[in-house]
Formats: sequence, structure tokens, C-alpha cells
Amino acid sequence: MGIEKLKTVLKSHNRSLVLKTPILGASGTYGYNNEFEDFINLEYLGGVVTKGITLEKRLGNKGDRIFEVTSGMINRIGLENVGIERFIKEKLPVLKEKKIDFILNIAGSSFEDYEKLAKIVNDNNIKAIEVNVSCPNVNSGCLEFGKNPKTLEELVFKIRKNYDGFLIVKLSPNVSDIKPLALAVQNAGADCISAINTLHGLGIKLNYNGEVFTKKSVQGGLSGRCIKPVALYYVSQIKSVVDIPVIALGGISKIDDVFEFISAGADAVQTGTENFTNPSVISDIAADIEEFINKNNFKDFEDLKSKIRLARG
Ligand SMILES: Cc1cc2nc3c(=O)[nH]c(=O)nc-3n(C[C@H](O)[C@H](O)[C@H](O)COP(=O)(O)O)c2cc1C
Repeated sequence: MGIEKLKTVLKSHNRSLVLKTPILGASGTYGYNNEFEDFINLEYLGGVVTKGITLEKRLGNKGDRIFEVTSGMINRIGLENVGIERFIKEKLPVLKEKKIDFILNIAGSSFEDYEKLAKIVNDNNIKAIEVNVSCPNVNSGCLEFGKNPKTLEELVFKIRKNYDGFLIVKLSPNVSDIKPLALAVQNAGADCISAINTLHGLGIKLNYNGEVFTKKSVQGGLSGRCIKPVALYYVSQIKSVVDIPVIALGGISKIDDVFEFISAGADAVQTGTENFTNPSVISDIAADIEEFINKNNFKDFEDLKSKIRLARG
């Protein structure tokens, strides 16, 4: 019995990352450190992927940043964050003190940005990073690097040269074929791929006052339950060409979703948009998986995963 049955080991060609449970909080939806501790059973928190951190502090986009749509949301936050220096000074000590497992999400506008960030996080012994090359809400860098396999391979290779820890690269669904990008990431020496980031989306709300229409609209990244089938498709596409672990994201809100992503090839998952409606979803799902394992006499999560993968159609 116990939480140790949920232990998940992400094993790449050269490194491993041990997670307490296979359910993590997704970048941008779970703060930097202890913002969520009143809502969640910390024992059942597999870890947190921090808000995307850039070299310099960013204020993000002006105007409306969030738009609710059917079964999801559109955001154009624009990578607002405190910058790496303040993260290390103010946020990192809290994460360490509270013993919260975390993965640092980084983003940049140039190769140099990513290289400098990689060096800084390496010097600070941060054991896992997730590289965002897939944000659709900023004007320069980021998604541009995640669209072209050659550029992406070169970028990941440069990060790899400067960072010895567990290197995860987060891919975008806003591409025509994700397979060459996944292969490029693996070839460059990354340990793991996470997918998906948000999809391009446009939300429009019209009002008619009897005389004229008024309009509110937000163009940005679409996330939440509505993107789950797209995420399942991309995870299976990625897994068809790489043998490093894959962390899935996209509309996950319950235990069945986790099983479906495992079946598509995922080794662990992150919940994003769902955290806004149910801030304890991460620990709820982990506890549900533990109960399922015990009730059905699986040895542990690894055993359950292997049985799900054998599912017959
Ligand atoms: C408000 C908001 C902010 C986000 N910020 C980031 C970010 O800083 N870095 C990143 O890699 N992804 C970011 N994402 C994308 C999520 O981590 C996740 O990939 C995406 O929302 C899909 O998962 P979901 O459907 O469970 O939300 C953000 C998503 C939302 C909704």
C-alpha cells in the first residue's frame, strides 16, 4: 500500500528522472511554488512545472488575456514572469524549503537566451528543465524555434551542451508534421518530450443592443478539455518515432484521460487548464490511480501502465 506504488521513473538514453507520482502541474497554470498548497494534498503532487521563465523579467501582453470557450479557454498571457534572477533568489528557496519537486520551464527569444538560461540553471543544480519552443503568444522566438526540425535540433544541441540535468523539450501542435521535430529533439540529446502546448485559437463574443453589434475577441492559445483528442493524436505520433519518454498534456481532468494518454504512449502527464476549475485535480487523480491499483491488484503504476499498453481493440 502507499504512495510509493505511484513512483514513476522517466528513463532516457543517459539519464532518469524520478517522480513521486505520474501527475504534474503544467507550466503557466500552477504558479512558481507554494501558491497551491492550501488546495492540494502535497504528498500526492508528482511535481510542478513552473511558469515559463525568461532571462529578463517580462510583463506579458496588455489587454484581455483570458477568454472562456466551450470546454476550454484561450490565453494570451505573453510569458509574464519574474525573470531567472528573481526566480533563483526568491522562488527557488521556497521550493527547496517545502521540498516541492519541480521542473523549471524556460523560454527565450534567441539561441543565446536559451544557452545563457541553460548555463544558469546548470550552475544552480536544477535537476530538470522543460524547454518551451512552442508558445504561440509572443512575437519573437519560442514557437519559431519549434517549427523547423533543423533549427530545433541545433537549439536543443546547444542547450544540451550547457545543461547536464534531465532535459525535456515541449512541442507545439501548431505544425503540419510533428514527427521530424520529435526526432530532432531526440537526436540532439534531449531526455524527454512533453506535448502539447496550446493550439492557435480565436474567441469572439458579440453583443447586440438593438442598434449595433459590439465585439470582444481574444486570439491566443487554446487549451482545456476541448483539445484532448488533438493531444492524443500528437502524443501517439511522437511516440511512433522516438524511444525517449513522453509527458502528455491537453485537457486532462480525470483518471480515464490519464489511461487514454498512457495508451497513446505517454509515460506521465500534466494537468493545465483543469487546475483553474479544480485546484486539487492533480492530487485527486493521483489518489484515484492509487485506489485503482490497489483495488485491482496491480503491483504498481509501472505494472498498470504495461497492462494498459497491451489493451486490445
Ligand atoms: C494561462 C496559461 C498559461 C500558460 N503558460 C505557459 C508557459 O508559460 N509555458 C508553457 O510551456 N506552457 C504554458 N501554457 C500551456 C500549458 O502548460 C499546456 O501545455 C496547455 O495549456 C495544454 O494543457 P491543458 O489543456 O491541460 O491546459 C499555459 C497555459 C495556460 C492556460
